Amino acid sequence: MRFKKFFRRHLRYPLWRLRHPFARYETYYAWVVTRKLKAGRAHPAIGPTAKAARGEEEMIKVLRRHGLRPHHTFVDYGCGSLRLGRPIVAMLEPDRFWGLDLAQEFLDEGIRHIGPALTAEKRPSLRVIDEAGLAAAKAARPDFIGAWHVCGKIPDQILDRFFQQVLGLMHEGTQVFLQFEDTGKRQQLHGLAWSLPRETLVAAIKQIDPRLEVEIHQLSFNPKRNLRYLYAHIHY
Ligand SMILES: C[S@@+](CC[C@H](N)C(=O)[O-])C[C@H]1O[C@@H](n2cnc3c(N)ncnc32)[C@H](O)[C@@H]1O
Repeated sequence: MRFKKFFRRHLRYPLWRLRHPFARYETYYAWVVTRKLKAGRAHPAIGPTAKAARGEEEMIKVLRRHGLRPHHTFVDYGCGSLRLGRPIVAMLEPDRFWGLDLAQEFLDEGIRHIGPALTAEKRPSLRVIDEAGLAAAKAARPDFIGAWHVCGKIPDQILDRFFQQVLGLMHEGTQVFLQFEDTGKRQQLHGLAWSLPRETLVAAIKQIDPRLEVEIHQLSFNPKRNLRYLYAHIHY
C-alpha cells in the first residue's frame, strides 16, 4: 500500500483526533473535504469538479419510481453540493426541496451549482445538520427523504446516531430511500468510505423502531469487487 493511501486510511484520523479530542467525527469529515476544496483540489462528489458517475438522474429516477411528484416535500440528506439534488429541485414546486449537510461550504457550492435562476424560482431550503436544521426539516413534514452516497461515509462509532437523525425526520407517511454499497462484510473502501452489510443496516433501523418496514433493492452488481450497489426503502 502506498504511503499516502496508508496515511489516509490509518493515520489521518487518529492524528486529527489527538488535536481534537472532543470534536465529533462529522467535523473531521467536513474538515477533510473543505481542506481539499480550499486547496483547489478536485473532489469527485462535492464542489466545482463534482461529477455524477451514473448521471445526475441517479437518485431522482428511484424516487420517481416510488411516486415522487412535484407537490411532495423532499429532504436530500447529505446533499453535498446538489450534484444529484439539482434535477429534484427543478422538478418540485417552490419551497418543497430541503438539502441538509454537515458544512455550510458544501451548501454554498450547491447554490452555485444550481445557479441563481433556479434558486430564485424554487427557493430550496439548505441547512446545516444541527439541532435547528433538523427541527426545521422535520417541521416541513417530508413525504420523501433520500440519502445517496452518504451511508457509506458513516463509521461504526456514529452509525446509530446517523440513523436516528435521518429517521427522526419521518412522520407516519414518510418514505425514506438510503443508497449504500454492500460487499458482504464491513470493509473500508477508502479513507472516508466503508461498505455496509445489509443486515447491519436493517438491524440499525429496526433498533430505532421495530415497526419500520425495510425493503432492499439492487441497482447494480460489480462482480470483480463483489460490490452490490443497493438502496433501502424504509416506511411505516
Ligand atoms: C459523497 S458525498 C455525496 C453528496 C450527495 N449526496 C451526492 O450524491 O452528490 C457524501 C456526503 O455525505 C455527507 N455526510 C458525511 N457524513 C455525514 C453524516 N454523518 N451525516 C450527514 N451527512 C454526512 C457529506 O458531507 C457529503 O456531502
